[in-house]
Amino acid sequence: MLLPNDLFFSFSQKIMNNDRLGNKRWLSRHHFLFFILVLAAVLFLNCANKKDMPPEWNPKRWMQNHSTKLFFPFVKQNVSSSNTDRFDTEPTAAADIAGFTIEATSAALLQTQNISPTHEVNIKNQTTDTVEVIQQVLHILFSTPVPYLSPGPYLVEYPYEYQFVINEPQKCEQEKPFVVLMVQVAPSNRAHRDVIRRTWGSENLVLDKVVKLFFLLGMQTGEDTQQVHEQLLQESKEHRDLIQSDFVDCYKNLTIKTMVMLEWLNLYCSTASYAMKIDSDTFLNVHNLVKMLLDAPKTNYMTGLVAYEAAVLRDPESKWYVPEDILPQSIYPPYTLGLGYILSLDLTEKLIEASRHIKALYIEDVYLGLCLHHLGIPPTDPPGYLYFSVFPVPYSPCEFSKVVVTTIESFIDRVWLWKNFKSQPKHC
Ligand SMILES: *[C@@H]1O[C@H](CO)[C@@H](O)[C@H](O)[C@H]1NC(C)=O
Ligand SMILES: *[C@@H]1O[C@H](CO)[C@@H](O)[C@H](O)[C@H]1NC(C)=O
Repeated sequence: MLLPNDLFFSFSQKIMNNDRLGNKRWLSRHHFLFFILVLAAVLFLNCANKKDMPPEWNPKRWMQNHSTKLFFPFVKQNVSSSNTDRFDTEPTAAADIAGFTIEATSAALLQTQNISPTHEVNIKNQTTDTVEVIQQVLHILFSTPVPYLSPGPYLVEYPYEYQFVINEPQKCEQEKPFVVLMVQVAPSNRAHRDVIRRTWGSENLVLDKVVKLFFLLGMQTGEDTQQVHEQLLQESKEHRDLIQSDFVDCYKNLTIKTMVMLEWLNLYCSTASYAMKIDSDTFLNVHNLVKMLLDAPKTNYMTGLVAYEAAVLRDPESKWYVPEDILPQSIYPPYTLGLGYILSLDLTEKLIEASRHIKALYIEDVYLGLCLHHLGIPPTDPPGYLYFSVFPVPYSPCEFSKVVVTTIESFIDRVWLWKNFKSQPKHC
């Protein structure tokens, strides 16, 4: 994360280096102060515009939000001058277009240098004015509680150091899985977890490879918070397959869940070869999954149902609406749909690093696509086009023997389906 201080430092360094005129001391200080003035104005506007004052605020989050916020006026200038609105094949250029990279921002900042007047007469008065503004800013920064700034409806609070409330830190080390199944499910949804434990989640040794199942949860909020918490502790004791982190678990926060999942894999399961993120309302053919992965690339590998040239939805009524000021380009880079995707474990660290450069969009699968694009790694198509199905495949033992993952209609009894599938011959 680039903090204003770092920017400050490099900016003043650059001015020092660029200044070849005799009046070095005055000019460099002049430029420096002008920059402070710009910074102060932006900060001041940010703070003055915020009317809502939540009861508690967190300085760390504030810095994260504000250091990003500070860049917006400059980033926007940059974006409007670009004449393309699509991702091209060159990852960093595309990221610049999106206004997401720090390079773009500092370039824009440097341009402001040229606007500053250079008449020495004004320096003294300007200096006094600037000092006043700085005093004002320091006052705002340090003497009044600064309101916590929400990232808005289209971005989530990430990066942030979320903690694990329920954890299984030793499991991977002990069991050495080949592939880890990470199921994202709401804390209160024990019924879904039990169905999965009784169906495809029960397959833990396939083709001589260890398959390990975990459920990933955030925090329950509302009236039943305490009750759910106690139930989860009990459930965790019984099954030892829950990972819970301290962010608010809700649909809008799925990107946080996915990033926390990558952090967990990176910290506690990096010896596994692959991880699969999978939704809870699905059927997983674990045999086909392992078979596919035995022949898959070992690194820089991400597969699933790949969406190509998906349009960024601009209808505010849409469930996945993203306004242009959040993402100016009209087409997403290729990404694997969220129902179930697989990645090689080397990618977890790389994606976390990439996420530091990309604003955390609330659509989790798209967001991973943006991060992957930043890395210059394209997702890989699965070897069979029927392997991943976002539309429910009508159940038959034959059809289900060809898929890796498909969604299932909610009226189908999934425990019955699993038993039936396991007991039928697979000849088609
Ligand atoms: C600074 O401003 C004051 C009025 O605020 C003016 O009287 C004075 O001449 C100005 N000094 C310079 C150097 O421009
Ligand atoms: C998402 O989680 C963060 C961190 O816990 C929380 O502050 C925020 O309110 C949550 N978002 C929603 C829409 O609940």
